[in-house]
Amino acid sequence: MSYTTITTSIENNIFIISINRPDKLNALNAAVFNDLDKAVDEIYENNQIKSALITGTGPKAFVAGADITEFAGLNKDEAMALAKRGQDVFFKIENSKKPIIAAVNGFALGGGCELAMACHFRLCSDNAKFGQPEVNLGLIPGYGGTQRLTQLIGKGKSMELQMTAGLIDATEALKLGLVNYVTTPETLLDKSKEILQLINSKAPIAISKIIECINVAIVSDSAYTNGKSGYDKEIECFGDCFVTEDMKEGTAAFLEKRKAVFTGK
Ligand code: COA
Repeated sequence: MSYTTITTSIENNIFIISINRPDKLNALNAAVFNDLDKAVDEIYENNQIKSALITGTGPKAFVAGADITEFAGLNKDEAMALAKRGQDVFFKIENSKKPIIAAVNGFALGGGCELAMACHFRLCSDNAKFGQPEVNLGLIPGYGGTQRLTQLIGKGKSMELQMTAGLIDATEALKLGLVNYVTTPETLLDKSKEILQLINSKAPIAISKIIECINVAIVSDSAYTNGKSGYDKEIECFGDCFVTEDMKEGTAAFLEKRKAVFTGK
C-alpha cells in the first residue's frame, strides 16, 4: 500500500503508523484521513499484522489537531460531513479486532487528542500535551472528543478542559487515566512495542472479543449500536458552530497569528 501523508512499517507483526506532516505539526487534513483509512484497512486485512501503534513524526507533535486551513469557507453541511468523516475513520480504529494503541510523542490537541482517544489505549512521552482547544476557534470537537474524553476522564474534568481550552501535561494525563504510561521521548516506541509484543503472544480471537465487549460496555454510543446519539449530536453542533461569526473570527485569528475577539454571534 502506498501513502503520502503517513509512513508505515511492520516490525515483529506490529504495524507502525506515523503521521508524517511534521512542518504542520502533523495536522489532520483530508489526505491524512484518506491515508489513515487505508492504513486501518491494512490492519484489518493483512495477516502479518497482529497489532498496531500510531505515533507522529518529529520531536514536537503527535497531532496538533484538524488542519485549520481546511475549515475556511465550509458551510454547515460540509462541516457536518467533515466531522462525520473523522468520526467514521476513528470508529474504524476503535472497532478494529486487532489492538491499536497511540504512542503520543508531543502535542495531542483537538483531532490529535481525539485520534489518541479512539485508539484502544495510550502511552505518552513526558513532553506530551493533551487538550481540546476548539473553543478558542469558536468551535467544539467534531471527531468524537465530546464523547470519548468524557468516557475516559469523567464529566467534570471533560467539561472544564473543553470549556477552558486548557492543556494538560503527561503527569496529569496519567493521573486522569487518559494515558497508561509516561516514558521519555527516547523510550516511548520501545515501551509501546514491548506491550504490543506481550499482547501479540495472547490468543487473537480472545483479544478481539475483549475489544468488542469493552467497546459495548464503555462506548454505549459506538458504531456497534444503532443509537449513536451523542456522536450524532456532536456532528450537528459542530455544523452549528460553523455558521457563527465567532468561528470565522477564531479560525481567522489562528491563521493570522493574532488573538481572537469573540462577540457571541
Ligand atoms: N492546523 C493547521 N496548521 C497547524 C495546526 C493545525 N491544527 N497546528 C499547527 N499548525 C501549523 C502552524 O500554522 C505552523 O505553520 P506555519 O509554519 O506554516 O506557520 C506550524 O504548524 C507550526 O506551528 P506553530 O503554531 O508555529 O508552533 P508553536 O510551537 O508556536 O505552537 C501549538 C504549537 C500546537 C500550540 C499551535 O500550533 C496551535 O495552537 N495549533 C492549533 C491547535 C488547535 O487549535 N487544534 C485544534 C484544531 S480543531
